[in-house]
Amino acid sequence: MVNIEQSKSYKFAGYDTVELAKKYGTPLYVLSEEIIRSRCREIKTDFLDKHKNTKAAYASKAFLTMTMCKIIESEGLGLDVVSGGELYTAIKAGFPMDKVMLHGNNKSYDEMEMAIANDVGRIIVDHIDELYMIEDIAARLSKTVKILIRVAPGVGGNTHKYITTGQKDSKFGIPLAKETIDEAVIKAMNSRHIELMGFHFHVGSNLFENDSYIAAIDVVMNLYRRLKDDFGFIAKEINTGGGFGIYYTKNDSVKPLKYYTDSIMKAIEDKCKELEIDIPTVIIEPGRWIVGEAGITLYTIGAVKEIPDTRTYASVDGGLPDNPRPALYSAKYEAVIANKYDHKPDRKVTIAGKCCESGDILIWDLDVPQIERGDILAVLSTGAYNYSMASNYNRIPRPAVLLLTKDGEKIIVERETYDDLLSKERVPF
Ligand code: LLP
Repeated sequence: MVNIEQSKSYKFAGYDTVELAKKYGTPLYVLSEEIIRSRCREIKTDFLDKHKNTKAAYASKAFLTMTMCKIIESEGLGLDVVSGGELYTAIKAGFPMDKVMLHGNNKSYDEMEMAIANDVGRIIVDHIDELYMIEDIAARLSKTVKILIRVAPGVGGNTHKYITTGQKDSKFGIPLAKETIDEAVIKAMNSRHIELMGFHFHVGSNLFENDSYIAAIDVVMNLYRRLKDDFGFIAKEINTGGGFGIYYTKNDSVKPLKYYTDSIMKAIEDKCKELEIDIPTVIIEPGRWIVGEAGITLYTIGAVKEIPDTRTYASVDGGLPDNPRPALYSAKYEAVIANKYDHKPDRKVTIAGKCCESGDILIWDLDVPQIERGDILAVLSTGAYNYSMASNYNRIPRPAVLLLTKDGEKIIVERETYDDLLSKERVPF
C-alpha cells in the first residue's frame, strides 16, 4: 500500500479528496456547492441583470436531488423538469411551482395532471395531442395553463449525434411545416384553458459555438413575424434551450457564458428589429453548464493489469453504472491520482470500470505516475449526467453523493446498499 502521508493529495473546492475517500468510501460523487452557486451567480450578472426581460431555468436532468432544488431556488433560478419523477422531486423540495417548466416528448396524462394540478409555470408542448390533453385536464381542474410550443428548427448542434436535438429529423418538437405549426397555434389560441406564450427550441448539448443558436433564432423569429401577420398572434417569450459546453479535457474550446448569451440576445434583438416585431422575453435553460464542473467522482484503483507490449489497464471500483457517458457518447474525461498529485506522470494507463462489459472503459491512455492497488482516482467534471444517468448494472449499488459546503461536507444522497437493490423485489414462489 502506498503511504499517502508522504504525497501531496488533490484538493477539490478546498477539500482533501483522499481524506474524503477514506471517510466516505468509494466510488463517491463529490459536488461543490460553491461552484454550483458561482455558476448561478454568473447567470445572474452576465445574463439576467445585463439583459432586460430574461429568465433562466436549471435543466434538472443534469443532476437533481431535493438539495439541488434548494440551491437553485435560493439562487433565484427556475427549474426545467422532464418527467413526473423530476417534478415530484421539485414538489417535495418545496420548489416554487410557478418557476417550473415541464418538458418531454411523450408526457403521460398523469404527468400532465400532476403539473397542472400543481400550477407549474409553463408546459412545453411537444405534440399537438398534448394540447388536447392539457385542455381536458385544465378544464376539469378549472385552471389556465401557460404553454410554449417546442419546435424542431431544422438546425442541428455540432456535437455527438445522440445529444443533437434541433435538426429536422428529430423526435423532439413540432415539425416546422406551416400546416403543423398553424394547426397547433390555432388549437392553442382557441383553447379556453391554454395561453400560448411563445416557442421553445433546443439545438443540442455541450456546444462550443454559437452558430446553431443564431441559425435557430433566425428560423423562429421568422415564424413569430409570420404568426403575427397570419393570425395577429404576438409571441411574448422565446426559450432557446440549454447546451452550453463545459471543460472536460484540454481539447474543449470552452467559452464564457456570455459568449452564448450575448450572441443569443444580439441575434434576437437584430432579427426583431429587421422584422419589426417586439423583442420577446428570452429564457435559457442550461443544465450541464451549471453543475458539470462542480462535480468529481472518486474511485479506488484495484486490479492493475499490464499486457506486455500492449497496454496497462487499471480497474476502478465503479465505472459504467455511475458514469455511462464514455460508453454512450465516447465522452472524454481528465483524471488525477488523488493521493499522488505531486508525482510526475510518466506512463499511460487505461482506466477500466468493474462491469462485465468491454465497453466499460472510463478513460483511455490516461497520463499517470506509477500506480498501484489502493490509489485514489479522481475523475473530473462529472457533476452533470453522471448521477442522473446512473444504473445498477451488474447489481452495483449507486454511490453516495457528498456536497462540499462552507460548513463542512454533507451526504445528500446515501450510498445504496445491497438490500436497496432487493427492496422492490417480490418472489412469487
Ligand atoms: N433543455 C432541453 C429541452 C434539453 O433537451 C436539454 C438537454 C437541456 C435544456 C439541457 O442541456 P445542457 O445545458 O445540459 O446541455 N445525457 C447527455 C445530455 C443530454 C441532454 C439532453 N437535453 C449527456 O450526458 O451528455
